[in-house]
Amino acid sequence: MRYFHASCDYAELADIYGTPLYVYDFDSMQKQYGYIKDSFSGFKSLVCYALKANSNLSVINTLAKLGSGADCVSLNEIKRAMLAGIPSYKIIFSGVGKEDYEIREALQLGILFLNIESEMELIRIEDIARELSSQNHVIEARISLRVNPDVDAKTHPYISTGLHENKFGLDMQTAKRLYLYAHKSPYLNPIGIHYHIGSQILESAPLLEATHKVLSLAKSLLSANIGLKFFDLGGGFGISYNDEKPFDIKDYISHIIRHIDSLDLTAICEPGRSIVGNSGAILTRVIGEKNTNDKRFVIIDCAMNDLLRPSLYNAYHHVSYLGSPIIDSSLDSCMQVCDIVGAICESGDYIAKDRALPLCKSGDLLLIESSGAYGYSMASNYNSRLKPAEVAISNGRHFLIKQRENFEDSVKGELELLRSQM
Ligand SMILES: Cc1ncc(COP(=O)(O)O)c(C=O)c1O
Repeated sequence: MRYFHASCDYAELADIYGTPLYVYDFDSMQKQYGYIKDSFSGFKSLVCYALKANSNLSVINTLAKLGSGADCVSLNEIKRAMLAGIPSYKIIFSGVGKEDYEIREALQLGILFLNIESEMELIRIEDIARELSSQNHVIEARISLRVNPDVDAKTHPYISTGLHENKFGLDMQTAKRLYLYAHKSPYLNPIGIHYHIGSQILESAPLLEATHKVLSLAKSLLSANIGLKFFDLGGGFGISYNDEKPFDIKDYISHIIRHIDSLDLTAICEPGRSIVGNSGAILTRVIGEKNTNDKRFVIIDCAMNDLLRPSLYNAYHHVSYLGSPIIDSSLDSCMQVCDIVGAICESGDYIAKDRALPLCKSGDLLLIESSGAYGYSMASNYNSRLKPAEVAISNGRHFLIKQRENFEDSVKGELELLRSQM
């Protein structure tokens, strides 16, 4: 099965830009965004793209032009969103550990609201808003509380966030107490309620259960005259990496809208993976084959530093053989099972296990599909490897959206200091 359908000449892309290479289909991203936005049709809504999934400026700008807002989890993500054209009033700031300088600048930038995850954070935001007010900067901090509804999202434990043992959000009782506190504070304006129970969620039942719990809290807050304006239902919509059948986002959203229709709230959602995941792939070249007594390994120029998901979550990515630059049709007949691995010094460095591939020669091209989300944004320089380039395809055209890192840049911040010590 193929998930990445951009029509392009991969051999040409590899020649021009080199490999490994992230390739994004911008037309597909726009379509995915449009599908989610249209699901709210006739209802007040704001789709805040979750930058953590893929924070390339051109990706963000493509969505900004369609009216997207941004869900950010660091001040640098806020700065990226704004650089890419998302206005501050469409930006929300989430995350369990915001630092004081980040809170201060977010308030000064006038973002839509901050999603609060703990009592400690609420008090710090109040203190900072008080300090800024005394300097005539901001009168009150617009906030939303992230409620932890204690619902199992039935996803990988590392990306499950809505259970009471997770570090995220506030239990319902504490949230209610803090809303009442914030309501009385001259420096806090509780305008939203938020929940996000995990990522890559494939069944809608846990999301609906969480929604109903948070809705009942929202109703009781409204009846206590707390002026909520936004119902932020998070992200987490799952995609198909292999043969999973994720729930339909439109059905899910229309269900939620029916329930909040009478409350005069604007719905916010924070999708990341569902917009970019299946709109991206990695083009990689085979370095060579290695056969041991036990196994066949196909060693490629993409590794866990470029795509961490298989090593971190045992995640599945479909790998397509794109054929050899030297056409040899006889190779197609000898499909054999292999592990597709990178060159990093870890046995955990693999991209795919037990996959059937024809015999590969050095230089053959493979496509690692569904890599648009949590791919480049989780990439690192482990083993002093340089991060790949990123290319976009739109309307049949390809263009570079991120330069491949080079060695000189990668050592610059150290080399100058080393030389100054010599
Ligand atoms: C608060 C919050 N919102 C949105 C997202 C985006 O999730 P996804 O990419 O699964 O849509 C995440 C990711 O985990 C998150 O933590």
